[in-house]
Amino acid sequence: MNRAALRVSLLLLLQLPLLLLLLPVPGGASSESDNDQEHGGENASHSPEKDREHWDSDYPDCGGTMQSPINIDTARTIFSPDLRPIQLSGYSLPANERLVLKNNGHTVVLELPESLAITGGYAQQYRAAQLHLHWGSWLEPGSEHTVNGRRFAAEIHVVHYNTKYDSFNEAMVRPDGLAVLGAFLEVGPSENPYYHEILEHLHKIQGVGQEVLVPGFNIAGLLPANLKLYFHYNGSLTTPPCYQTVKWTIFNQTMLLSHDQMSLLVRSLRTDDSDLLQNNFRPVQNLHGRQVLASFQATQPLVKHTPGHSTSFHAGDVLAVLFGVLFAVTALAFLLYIYKHRSQNARLDSPTKSKVIYTAASTENTA
Ligand SMILES: *[C@@H]1O[C@H](CO)[C@@H](O)[C@H](O)[C@H]1NC(C)=O
Ligand SMILES: *[C@@H]1O[C@H](CO)[C@@H](O)[C@H](O)[C@H]1NC(C)=O
Ligand SMILES: *[C@@H]1O[C@H](CO)[C@@H](O)[C@H](O)[C@H]1NC(C)=O
Ligand SMILES: [Zn+2]
Repeated sequence: MNRAALRVSLLLLLQLPLLLLLLPVPGGASSESDNDQEHGGENASHSPEKDREHWDSDYPDCGGTMQSPINIDTARTIFSPDLRPIQLSGYSLPANERLVLKNNGHTVVLELPESLAITGGYAQQYRAAQLHLHWGSWLEPGSEHTVNGRRFAAEIHVVHYNTKYDSFNEAMVRPDGLAVLGAFLEVGPSENPYYHEILEHLHKIQGVGQEVLVPGFNIAGLLPANLKLYFHYNGSLTTPPCYQTVKWTIFNQTMLLSHDQMSLLVRSLRTDDSDLLQNNFRPVQNLHGRQVLASFQATQPLVKHTPGHSTSFHAGDVLAVLFGVLFAVTALAFLLYIYKHRSQNARLDSPTKSKVIYTAASTENTA
């Protein structure tokens, strides 16, 4: 056996375990996200409120084809460069302006003055009406929307109505009547000072119908700093009467609350039956062919917004490059081997011919 062949076989042998090691990695990464989806599905199937099944007999829209919330499958979103950043105006309120904070039996609602408005990102202008939250329990997450099957700890909805209508009640029955800004809440390392402005008052409104006046603050602080990255779709109110009149914006950046703040949220308010008010989210609804737009290229992983995933994407990139290099080396060595093997065979086939050629060449060179 010649040396070149030996080298190639050795190289291949050395790479074999490496290849075996590398190959399962992409599979491992995807099965991780499959698990996430299974968890999301599992948790979603625990229907939080028993009467949800009967909503559409009293409110026909609840059985419609443009219902909310939905699962946002990022791979199926449509990148729309004309979705401009959401612009908020009048969101910073002075402390001497008092706002009503209320337990309505379904959620905590903060009533907002009409001076707050969305002035950019939508084709029309929308005035704020109220904001409220959806949450799970101490064990389970409770956002309404999910992203790639993943449910987040909680979700904020800031509800607005089109300025071309005189009131919220008039707007909510019109196809272009409402705009809701939604953002996901997750547990982070530190206390969120903006959410503190709401959470510190919850113990005063434990009973249904109770309300308290809270000092104004910068309401925009309850929403992500990045108002450029979002998903957009046509949907509905997520509680009866489920009117299909909401242009939804779901931000890609999430809000972080401390662990203590999150547990305050899920353990303070009570329902009519004086049970804890928990799991006040509606299950995700069928898309029925609706499109979900994205203001950014959501099909590509956004490393800075998914710190949990960024490392695996980096590792994936490195492995891909390594794999590519190893493949190139193998291919090159193989070609080299074939080339050498062929020229050797050629020489063996016609020893006299090659001798003649070599002599001729050498004489020419010395001349
Ligand atoms: C679903 O709930 C279980 C607890 O019942 C929890 O351990 C799991 O993390 C939840 N799934 C997700 C996607 O958060
Ligand atoms: C929402 O509905 C309006 C009116 O029918 C339509 O023009 C718009 O394209 C829809 N938006 C999306 C994201 O499908
Ligand atoms: C944000 O977008 C990235 C990229 O599509 C996606 O992986 C991530 O799940 C999104 N997160 C949220 C909260 O929308
Ligand atoms: Zn809501």
